[in-house]
Parts: sequence; structure tokens; C-alpha cells
Amino acid sequence: MADVEAFLATSRTNNRRDGITGLLISDGTRFLQALEGETETIEAAFQRIKADPRHRATVLLSNKSIVERQFGMWEMLSAALARSGMMRFLEIWSTVSSPR
Ligand SMILES: Cc1cc2nc3c(=O)[nH]c(=O)nc-3n(C[C@H](O)[C@H](O)[C@H](O)COP(=O)(O)O)c2cc1C
Repeated sequence: MADVEAFLATSRTNNRRDGITGLLISDGTRFLQALEGETETIEAAFQRIKADPRHRATVLLSNKSIVERQFGMWEMLSAALARSGMMRFLEIWSTVSSPR
């Protein structure tokens, strides 16, 4: 868990700086992450993530242009999910930023 807290802190700092929003779900072993933002900053973030030796295999599931962000307000939604107990997430993460 300490590791998770450490990379979440780094991720939040970097993503806020870069205007990246997103979502991170884990079962404790594997992670599913959505990142959204400007193409260049997303690519840079993905390169950093891929280069991180803590990852054993990184798979890109989808890469597409979007008209508006899906996870810009995710912090609110994650709180609702935790309260309802609908799903057991090790951690749900998002960075709320003001895209413009
Ligand atoms: C599951 C997982 C998700 C991560 N997500 C992000 C992310 O969204 N943004 C980010 O900057 N780093 C993320 N990281 C951390 C990167 O792998 C890397 O350690 C970090 O970007 C390096 O940043 P620095 O050069 O500022 O130290 C993630 C790491 C893990 C293990």
C-alpha cells in the first residue's frame, strides 16, 4: 500500500501539472487506467509509465480523440462509489483539473 500511495502522489502531482485527468482501478495486482488530456502530455505520461520498472507488462487498450473529458469530475464519483460499496477498489484515483 505504501508503494501505491507513493506513485499516486507522483501521479497526482504530474497529472495536475500536465492538465491530465483520469481514473485508476486496481484489484491489487493489475491496474486499469484511463488518462485524458492533450495528446502530447498523454503520450509523455504514457512513456513515463511504460518506463517504470514496477510495471511488468503495459498494454494499450485504446487511444482515441474525445470531445469532452469523462473523468474530469471523477473525484466526486469515486466518493459516491465508495459510500455505496458497489465495487471494491483498492484505489480509485483522479485528478480534477480545469481543462480551460
Ligand atoms: C499503476 C501506475 C499508474 C501510474 N500513473 C501515472 C500517471 O497517471 N501519471 C504519472 O505521471 N505517473 C504515473 N505513474 C508513475 C510513473 O510510472 C512514473 O513513476 C512517474 O511518472 C515518474 O514521474 P517523475 O519523472 O516526475 O518522477 C503510475 C505508476 C503506476 C505503477
